Amino acid sequence: MKVYLDNAATTPMAPEVWEAMEPFMKEHFGNPSSSHAFGRKTKNAIEMSRRKVASLINAEPGEIIFTSGGTEADNMALWCSVRDHGVKRIITSTIEHHAVGHTAESIAEKEGIEIVYVHLDERGSVNIEHLESLLKDDVKTLVSLMHANNEIGNLLPLEKVNALCKKYNALFHSDTVQTMGHYHFDLKKIDIDFITCAAHKFHGPKGVGFLYINKKLKMSQLIHGGAQERGHRGGTENLYGIIGLAKAMELAYTDLEEHQTHVQNIKNYMKSRLIEIEPKIKFNGEQDADKSLYTVLNVCFPLSESNAMMLFSLDINGVAASGGSACSSGSNKGSHVLASLEGSEYCNAIRFSFSRYTTKEEIDFAIEQIKNCTKILEVAEN
Ligand SMILES: Cc1ncc(COP(=O)(O)O)c(C=O)c1O
Repeated sequence: MKVYLDNAATTPMAPEVWEAMEPFMKEHFGNPSSSHAFGRKTKNAIEMSRRKVASLINAEPGEIIFTSGGTEADNMALWCSVRDHGVKRIITSTIEHHAVGHTAESIAEKEGIEIVYVHLDERGSVNIEHLESLLKDDVKTLVSLMHANNEIGNLLPLEKVNALCKKYNALFHSDTVQTMGHYHFDLKKIDIDFITCAAHKFHGPKGVGFLYINKKLKMSQLIHGGAQERGHRGGTENLYGIIGLAKAMELAYTDLEEHQTHVQNIKNYMKSRLIEIEPKIKFNGEQDADKSLYTVLNVCFPLSESNAMMLFSLDINGVAASGGSACSSGSNKGSHVLASLEGSEYCNAIRFSFSRYTTKEEIDFAIEQIKNCTKILEVAEN
């Protein structure tokens, strides 16, 4: 048996998504910028996808810019804020995804702007009072704080932070890569400035996503070239990727509540089975269901040689999980997120992440492997 519990890194593509994409790989290959029938066909498919995506989050089609994924969308939001809106300071946190953290550092270096890190509490949640005190300074500011942390699953109170940013006239970007397709968004209601999406986090294809940019804001091109994406992003569109994204999003939001309940139950079940094995097991990040992403469980195994080998042993025994974020694979640095949490040095952290396809039987299998790994390695240690 092989069990995949690394859905925060990426998810398997839904069969319906593949089916929707296939004709655009085989028959409908026209360049969407061509004016002939082949091009009109694919252009129309892109615009229908844009409309569908916009309607699912109650945005307007013109507010959706398709990108190569979450990283590019985050880059666009940050650069746009500084270049087109005179931002002189970025308020962010030390536990953002590198798509935001490293981008902010690079912009600060190139453009001479300031980065300020908001305080976090011991579970890694943003200290809202500190954020407000920072916002009182009279400096044109972009706040960039992720909606859900990809490693520990903490959720940001998006509406509250958005309201604060409005109050102090700051722009607000939230990396919603882990929550898009997993929570409802009503962008007419929240009136946020920028949010982002990566299709591969909700059973869509890799290498495609979008930036939502509020229609009140203007934006010049970041990637120069043709006038694609209504002049916002040059380059021939990832046609079948966009078709797949729209289909994956439609599937994600059909029966969303059912998916949420299923995955939350899976998470709760795994938590309770883990505590049964070893009451000393703890969990990183927020634990209240309304403050924690239901797809992510970051487990803090007590320090021991066997637990240090756990991830490796699980992999050999058919269970895929993650030791932190897989988003910078190839890097052997430890997790910058866990490094920001008090006490995380006292545990071997493993992130298990689930999808609507994860079953209870798979969790049972993973639990058996965790038990076995611990036993085998403990025998070897003694
Ligand atoms: C929170 C978050 N932001 C951004 C990204 C980057 O998205 P992409 O892989 O589509 O570039 C990821 C994961 O990969 C993520 O988890």
